[in-house]
Amino acid sequence: MTLVNLQCRLTARPTGLPKASDWDFVEEPAPEPGEGEFRVRVEFLSIDPAMRSWMNAGRSYVPPVEIGEVMRAGGIGRVIDSRHPDYAVGEAVYGTFGVQRYALSDGRGATRVDTTLASAPVHLGVLGIGGLTAYFGLLDVGRPEPGQTVVVSGAAGSVGSIAGQIARIKGCRVVGIAGGPDKCQWLVDELGFDAAIDYKAGDVRNQLRQHAPDRIDVFFDNVGGEILDQALGRLARGARIVICGAVSQYNAVGAPSGPSNYMQLLVARASMTGFVVFDYADRYAEGASQLARWLQSGELRSREDVVHGDVDQFPDVLLRLFDGTNIGKLVLALEFEH
Ligand SMILES: NC(=O)c1ccc[n+]([C@@H]2O[C@H](COP(=O)([O-])OP(=O)(O)OC[C@H]3O[C@@H](n4cnc5c(N)ncnc54)[C@H](OP(=O)(O)O)[C@@H]3O)[C@@H](O)[C@H]2O)c1
Repeated sequence: MTLVNLQCRLTARPTGLPKASDWDFVEEPAPEPGEGEFRVRVEFLSIDPAMRSWMNAGRSYVPPVEIGEVMRAGGIGRVIDSRHPDYAVGEAVYGTFGVQRYALSDGRGATRVDTTLASAPVHLGVLGIGGLTAYFGLLDVGRPEPGQTVVVSGAAGSVGSIAGQIARIKGCRVVGIAGGPDKCQWLVDELGFDAAIDYKAGDVRNQLRQHAPDRIDVFFDNVGGEILDQALGRLARGARIVICGAVSQYNAVGAPSGPSNYMQLLVARASMTGFVVFDYADRYAEGASQLARWLQSGELRSREDVVHGDVDQFPDVLLRLFDGTNIGKLVLALEFEH
């Protein structure tokens, strides 16, 4: 039986939020694996804010997706044919498979995934890039000490919810910043944050004053823009700001708004450090096993937001990251007729 692949390709570089005309959907026979390759049926796609920046031209930490290319995405697939000595039919594998139903791999950048230990969405979230980003970004760059105050923006998302919980495990006072009362309640009631600030309700400045009375020792920033400026105004002496991301700026038209409050770094003798998780690749095993232990002991909770649909749902699912519909790790579970 010939398998029909459906691919989501980038057709234009978006201005602002991606729109329908930025994508093209192409059906064609799924390619057969050559010698040394295996073919996967892609089952779960990781939906990440970084995808928006991969759609832009220009210098970044990875090359842009070119016009006409399949949209880049990490995912977990099941091997359905193999001419690779190390991968057998039936195995679950993580790789950068792209937004498509079927993908070929020669094994480079691929990792076997044990879905009997944890579900595929958990492997894409807390045990995957999101959890590792939180782990290394917070512990290596933020370097929190017990009793210090850690503030996390984008706190109800994949990375933020884990970063805040790790800070709690390390004995810190943890304050999350997230959009809406439901997310804030989840952070405090379920994840054990000491306080949560609903930035959509306004007045982040006063709420930071209230919930971080001893000022901020570590600011783990996923959001940038105005929220970063407010945190800069509340730094403790020697504070560390971890620039993990700036999701509020990814769809900016024109220049992103920079931190105007940056002189507070001088006043507080603070540092602000950009961080890319890929630089920790040789320590992923350490991070993943610690995260798995915390998960198993119940000290760490994970939440996955799984949307079911075919490849053509991808553009709408991506937008959920930018309107804040998602709570926890956003995953597209690919479902289609063979
Ligand atoms: N440096 C690295 O190596 C690395 C690796 C992975 C991810 N990241 C970064 O980590 C951050 C979080 O990624 P994630 O995968 O965990 O995504 P996520 O937090 O699960 O989803 C994005 C969240 O961003 C918030 N958001 C969207 N627009 C916003 C705005 N204008 N202002 C404030 N908040 C806004 C939304 O939550 P609300 O409802 O709270 O607004 C949304 O749920 C991103 O910046 C991403 O680029 C960095």
